[in-house]
Amino acid sequence: MRRAGRSAATILDRLCSLVRPGMSTLEVDEAGGQLMKDMGVKSACKGYRSGHRVFPSYTCLSVNDEVVHGIGVEERILKDGDVISVDVCIREDGMIGDNCRTIGVGRISPEVEKLLKVTEESLFKGMAQALHKNRVGDVSEAVQKHVEAAGFAVITNFVGHGVGRSLHEDPQIPNFGKAGTGPKFRKGMAICIEPMVNMRNPQIRMAKDGWTALAVDGMPSAHFEHTLLVDDDVPEILTIPDGCGEAEQYFSEKLSAFAA
Ligand code: MF3
Ligand code: CO
Repeated sequence: MRRAGRSAATILDRLCSLVRPGMSTLEVDEAGGQLMKDMGVKSACKGYRSGHRVFPSYTCLSVNDEVVHGIGVEERILKDGDVISVDVCIREDGMIGDNCRTIGVGRISPEVEKLLKVTEESLFKGMAQALHKNRVGDVSEAVQKHVEAAGFAVITNFVGHGVGRSLHEDPQIPNFGKAGTGPKFRKGMAICIEPMVNMRNPQIRMAKDGWTALAVDGMPSAHFEHTLLVDDDVPEILTIPDGCGEAEQYFSEKLSAFAA
């Protein structure tokens, strides 16, 4: 899990640094596929089945009002002021690493900048509750409170999840709910927390491609995700890129950066 997490994070990091206005989401996806190949890992998205549908791209790339599970396509050209959620989910030695970040393409408005910041903060607020003997609802409430205090709307159609040999394992980890409720965390459990946040209206609809979820109000949406290991005091974040130090240090640096 540690190796898979580090690879997933390293690929996400490198892929995000390649994103430029003028690129198509297909080009971003192909760069993601190449990075996976170079690192000797497999996409856990490509070939993922939901009913009779098979997910076609290496990564999930969701632009602006696309909330999650967007597909890389030639026609979608990134432009200055867009936001794109880059979701990298890989398998290495049989284990999964899953992480996502929403970034601005070129310059974005202060309001959208705030949406990204608050969504990532809510991920860290949630992760801070992913502790031995806490409950899933402790994470859920922490995420929801932070998002709603900022005036944004948390999406309820998609949830975080347990993770391991399969991408989606029990328990489900909603981004909304009540502290003190739900299943108990145990030290050593691997989970993905992944808040998805809209500006105002949390409602979504499915695009014609059968995968992409869209914000009904057409406004930008944000998505941040880490894979982590439940522990006693602080969770161990598994999706930290190569060369970015230890989980504990990464966690505390992020939290203090948010406070600044
Ligand atoms: N982070 C996403 C999730 O947990 C990855 C989805 S891969 C897909 O749902 F193939 F389902 F799109
Ligand atoms: Co996930």
